Amino acid sequence: MDHQMVKCFQFKTDSSMIRLSDSSDQNDDTIIEIKILQNSDNRYSSITWPSADLLCRFMLANRTVFMEKTVLELGSGTGICGIMAAKIGAKVILSDQNVFASELILKNVELNNVNAQFIPLDWGRKSDLLNDRIPTDIDYIIGSDLCYEDEQQFEKLLLTIAFLLRNNRQQSIPFYMSYHFRSSNYQIECLLRKFKLQSKLLFYSDNLKIYLYEITLI
Ligand SMILES: C[S@@+](CC[C@H](N)C(=O)[O-])C[C@H]1O[C@@H](n2cnc3c(N)ncnc32)[C@H](O)[C@@H]1O
Repeated sequence: MDHQMVKCFQFKTDSSMIRLSDSSDQNDDTIIEIKILQNSDNRYSSITWPSADLLCRFMLANRTVFMEKTVLELGSGTGICGIMAAKIGAKVILSDQNVFASELILKNVELNNVNAQFIPLDWGRKSDLLNDRIPTDIDYIIGSDLCYEDEQQFEKLLLTIAFLLRNNRQQSIPFYMSYHFRSSNYQIECLLRKFKLQSKLLFYSDNLKIYLYEITLI
């Protein structure tokens, strides 16, 4: 039988986290708590993954950058990263590929009393990408632990990112992605070039093997 449980996450401003050049954040004692309802149904989207913690800490350390900006999250899962973005004052659109994720995401949005929209967005699926609901006034795209299966999954994700960046009114926006290194079989660099994208490594957590990249159009 599947179980549901609420997990409480607490984030503090972290002086070791990278600050973006346009951040005016100071080290302070801000604490943000997020409650997340999780399912024990073995779906990737039903639990919160370790790289979500890094992306949340990055946004909290740079919250003045995200404040009042429009943020689209891909592969939201339980929704924790989008909820963090909403808590620090961003206008948030969460997305994932399936209806199971959308149910959990919407419950978590309500549980944390934040405003955020959900859109279904299956990477690489034309009908989802050409849908009117896809925003074209995005300031930042975010995503945590989105590449974990095979190279085709990477490819679909990067195709989607390239499409979203090219179709956005402002094309120079970044995609902030936390990436949990699991296998050297996947080589993101070749695929980035294929879609005319480039990456910059912003942060690396050695003990967890989690990277934080900024991906932009070349
Ligand atoms: C490992 S989970 C990470 C969830 C969440 N971002 C986190 O870090 O806790 C991967 C997420 O990517 C989503 N995903 C996988 N393939 C996808 C696709 N083709 N389109 C949209 N979302 C996808 C899954 O449904 C799942 O929510």
